[in-house]
Amino acid sequence: MTKSQSLFNSAVSGAAIAAAFDLGILAAVREGLLPSLDEFCSNNGLHPPTVGELVRALATEGIVTTGVGGAVHPGAEFEDVYRNKGYFMWLIQGYGTMLSTLSSLARLDGRTAESIRRNEHYVALSGKDYGAQFVDPVFDEVVAGLDFKVVADLGCGSAQRLTRLVDRHPSACGVGIDRSADAVALASRAVDQADLVDRISIRQADAYEITPNPEFADVDLLMSFFMGHDLWPRERCVESLRTLRRSFPGVHTFLLCDTYRSEVDDGQTLPIFTMGFELTHAAMGQYIPSAKDWMSVFEAGGWTCRSRHPIGIPFSDIFELSPIDLDSTG
Ligand SMILES: C[S@@+](CC[C@H](N)C(=O)[O-])C[C@H]1O[C@@H](n2cnc3c(N)ncnc32)[C@H](O)[C@@H]1O
Repeated sequence: MTKSQSLFNSAVSGAAIAAAFDLGILAAVREGLLPSLDEFCSNNGLHPPTVGELVRALATEGIVTTGVGGAVHPGAEFEDVYRNKGYFMWLIQGYGTMLSTLSSLARLDGRTAESIRRNEHYVALSGKDYGAQFVDPVFDEVVAGLDFKVVADLGCGSAQRLTRLVDRHPSACGVGIDRSADAVALASRAVDQADLVDRISIRQADAYEITPNPEFADVDLLMSFFMGHDLWPRERCVESLRTLRRSFPGVHTFLLCDTYRSEVDDGQTLPIFTMGFELTHAAMGQYIPSAKDWMSVFEAGGWTCRSRHPIGIPFSDIFELSPIDLDSTG
């Protein structure tokens, strides 16, 4: 097979992975619940010709195998792809529109606010999946060493992490803040489903615009996962960190987790996710700080980094921050 053949087929298969995840096909295959594709389509209101081709694309890559009576089973590559399925949803369904308008975005006169679009619903949903696998094991260890009563999650997305945390700490309460209406809808549903409406509130707000508010006086743990780069460039980030320091005066720990710039030139050595993350954020005009950039901004912003915890997402850490006296930081 030539390079272009395999690249083309991989692009199709990437879209098929994202769709199969979204439609519950991957989960059904994993649980052995797909003895007949026709029956699965009919039970789930799906279009058999589309689903048939989608499964063929998966089979081409060894992700599934097909058997008698339209049964679909895990293939040799299934577990690896299942584990990483959230990255495919992130790229294809979260950023698909942006990828399809990449040439317009690369033209200086084609860059309109309209064309810089991502699907917030799928960005939040995919984060829920890869977060549970690659972030939460480290997050749990970090949180196990902390005492807290009220937690605020900035850019909470689906609120998966917040609901899980509050659920595991029966005396804790939480507030989730996100500027996206789609994320807020997902988060509110998650809180409702977890039966935590009396202990978690979800707010639609911009983290830049948070001002001191009596409601936040009792927050002692602040966290923000995969939103921090939105606070850059540097001056704006310093100002935002200082604003957060003032708006959450009772916080003893700020867990700021983000993916930082790889600073790797040779794309061939890059792991999954990084090239897509750096390309889409460049297209959005979003500066991605390096780890060094982050480390250089905390003290000026009123925080000190007491430790760094690498997580399972490439080039991503949880920065564990303590507040410092704002007057001493100028
Ligand atoms: C990549 S998602 C991460 C969601 C979640 N924290 C997680 O780990 O799964 C980033 C989230 O931050 C939100 N966000 C980005 N900039 C924001 C801002 N300035 N204020 C509030 N939310 C913001 C987005 O709407 C999105 O839901």
